[in-house]
Amino acid sequence: MKYYIITYGCQMNEADSGLMGDLLSAAGWEACAGVEGADLIVLNTCSVREKPEQKVYSRLGELAKLREASPGVVIAVAGCMAQREGEEIRRRAPYVNLVLGTRQFHHLPELVGRIRAGERGIVQLDSEEDPSAARGRPRLGQRTAALREFVPIIRGCTNFCSYCIVPYVRGREVSRPLRDIVCEVRELADRGAREVTLLGQNVLAYGRDLAGGLSFADLLRELDGTEELWRIRFTTSHPRDVTDELVEAMAGLPTVCEHIHLPLQAGADRLLEEMNRGYTTRDYVDTVARLRAAVGDLAITTDMMVGFPGETEEEFEEGLGLYERIGFDAAFMFAYSPRPGTAAAAREDQVPRRTRSARLQRLIALQNGLSVARNEAEVGREVEVLVEGPAERGEGLLAGRARSNKLVIFPGGAELAGSLVSVKLTEAHLWGFHGEIAVS
Ligand code: SAH
Ligand code: SF4
Ligand code: F3S
Repeated sequence: MKYYIITYGCQMNEADSGLMGDLLSAAGWEACAGVEGADLIVLNTCSVREKPEQKVYSRLGELAKLREASPGVVIAVAGCMAQREGEEIRRRAPYVNLVLGTRQFHHLPELVGRIRAGERGIVQLDSEEDPSAARGRPRLGQRTAALREFVPIIRGCTNFCSYCIVPYVRGREVSRPLRDIVCEVRELADRGAREVTLLGQNVLAYGRDLAGGLSFADLLRELDGTEELWRIRFTTSHPRDVTDELVEAMAGLPTVCEHIHLPLQAGADRLLEEMNRGYTTRDYVDTVARLRAAVGDLAITTDMMVGFPGETEEEFEEGLGLYERIGFDAAFMFAYSPRPGTAAAAREDQVPRRTRSARLQRLIALQNGLSVARNEAEVGREVEVLVEGPAERGEGLLAGRARSNKLVIFPGGAELAGSLVSVKLTEAHLWGFHGEIAVS
């Protein structure tokens, strides 16, 4: 039996898709290279904006044809949009067999079995809090580890930013026990992983819901020094939760990379307050200063949103000025998208769609210039690159990432894959650098 998983959304969804794959493999399934020939197709979905939801419905439209040709194929919709829409998905796309909430994915093999045994349609959502489901992780089974692995450490979000659907579809924050994470990371390193990225909607909230007063910095300290593990990353960090303890851990722990993804969202205090972000622009600037003072060569990336309800032209421009002053290494930039059920979506002062997209274009133009300028300042430096393998394009070129998480492409032999190489940066681009192996 073969399965194929299509993933939308964030790295947490990517990680969940990996877990579903592990579970299916353990149940005797094999991965398939595409929808053709698959006996099970899973769409792991995202609800954060309107667009990823539309993509899912258009993909489902295509799958309807495939289903006509091969009636036995099981179609499952999992993840955030499944949780948000529930039965609605089967109303709009009746050929979907299985709708699975965000904390239900561990039931996938069993539920697929029930469908294959003759049940027509199952919708299994998170009706009540089920923390055990969120805390657990299936065993790694026989699989080998990738060079870079992603490890969820906390699921859900209790922040309720006024624009955001995530707390509604992912539930409240649930941390995994420290021991489980430490064991898993050790196991991954034993099997060949050299870098792990700790994942959560807000990793800095790690431990708050656990007994024993653990913090995220405690977890970093526990993981630093894991044998054969060279690099630790984490995402996403909420600016409000950057404690001095965290800054110290980042500065002092050798395996923790010099990069933080710190979503700012908006550059005007009134907007930040109405977004319920819990910090002012001043707080954010102070946090950046504390981090930069303690952690040398720190790369800071962010998320920015334009067109939040009520955003004036002045507030938008205030944001542009702030982004210019802070100088982010890179940013994910979004136009606000109203999400049904959130506080901001109910407001009457929505910014017209055209204004939102015009502002987004201006923001992207500005930030792209700033990102290139930041990269240009690094040309000439030597950086440590973890080599992933051959570059996607270009004969004899390798691709890897610097500790800043920036992509570096350079000429070299395939035998260097999986090793750390010192690379001199020769050319800056928006996407990263070209370089050459440093001769020391
Ligand atoms: N937990 C992370 C982000 C999760 S969602 C954090 O707190 O920052 C990823 C990004 O999507 C957010 O940072 C935000 O910039 C964007 N986003 C969330 N809701 C959105 C919405 N309704 N419209 C547009 N962008 C949104
Ligand atoms: Fe959404 Fe805010 Fe939670 Fe991030 S912190 S997931 S933006 S509610
Ligand atoms: Fe999307 Fe869910 Fe992630 S809404 S961004 S897939 S947590």
